[in-house]
Amino acid sequence: MGYEHIRVESKGRVGVITLDRPQALNALCTPLIDEVNQALTQFEGDDKIGCIVLTGSEKAFAAGADIKEMSELTYMDAYLGDFITKWEQVSRTRKPIIAAVAGYALGGGCELAMMCDFIIAADNAKFGQPEITLGVMPGAGGTQRLTRLVGKSKAMDLCLTGRMMDAEEAERSGLVARVVPADDLMTEALKAADKIAGFSLPIAMMTKESVNRSYETTLTEGLRFERRVFHSMFATEDQKEGMAAFVEKRKPQFSNK
Ligand code: HXC
Repeated sequence: MGYEHIRVESKGRVGVITLDRPQALNALCTPLIDEVNQALTQFEGDDKIGCIVLTGSEKAFAAGADIKEMSELTYMDAYLGDFITKWEQVSRTRKPIIAAVAGYALGGGCELAMMCDFIIAADNAKFGQPEITLGVMPGAGGTQRLTRLVGKSKAMDLCLTGRMMDAEEAERSGLVARVVPADDLMTEALKAADKIAGFSLPIAMMTKESVNRSYETTLTEGLRFERRVFHSMFATEDQKEGMAAFVEKRKPQFSNK
């Protein structure tokens, strides 16, 4: 399939989506988001793919939603068109998805990264929610996901001042899972993704679903959900294989069954 704003490739069991709109620092125009969604659908339906990596360039993961596209929108365009709905496919992706972030991840770029399961950041990454400088506020999760990840105080600081934070601060705050040297970003992200893809896909998907559930519900309900899903894993062949392999001191061969 031909894409204009992204590059899509499979590296073994890992599907890689690279935002590739360098003239606009990967600003997330609607056609780009449509392409990301097509690529996600392709990888979700591909049995060979066990994990997805979403990345950008060395200079920018994404410098936000496309300001030029948004600048003339009316309230009715925004309300009836609801272009942000399209972005949610990333957060609805059932296979594990890692954001590999170098350079700017601002506004919608930071929000898109937060829709992924975790963020691996290059040491040159810069995160921020500068929407207030444009006379708006974050609209794709910046006031919600960021607050859950870094807490109210830091989320308020970022959303109200519009300042950027570097990778080290982002890791310290809990936004980012790990920071790696910029030159190693893709190697490290692919290594993590390949490791995940080497496990049982249904078990990885259920694990993701269970962690995500913790955001949506109370501790009691979340624990109940976790227990149910954990019990259900004993109906899988991969549980039998994983535990037998440990007992027999060999590597497991997961079959995704
Ligand atoms: C459209 C953008 C853009 C954006 C950069 N460009 N960010 N175009 N939308 N978000 C374009 C510039 O217009 C310019 O195009 C080219 O990319 C290079 O950008 P420069 O500004 O010349 O680069 P630099 O001086 O290195 O500065 C980098 C930057 C700056 C600090 C990242 O570009 C910047 O502040 N960008 C906007 C960041 C931002 O406010 N993001 C939030 C957007 S609102 P030309 O044609 O002039 O060369 C948002 C809301 C989401 O995301 C709500 C939910 C959907």
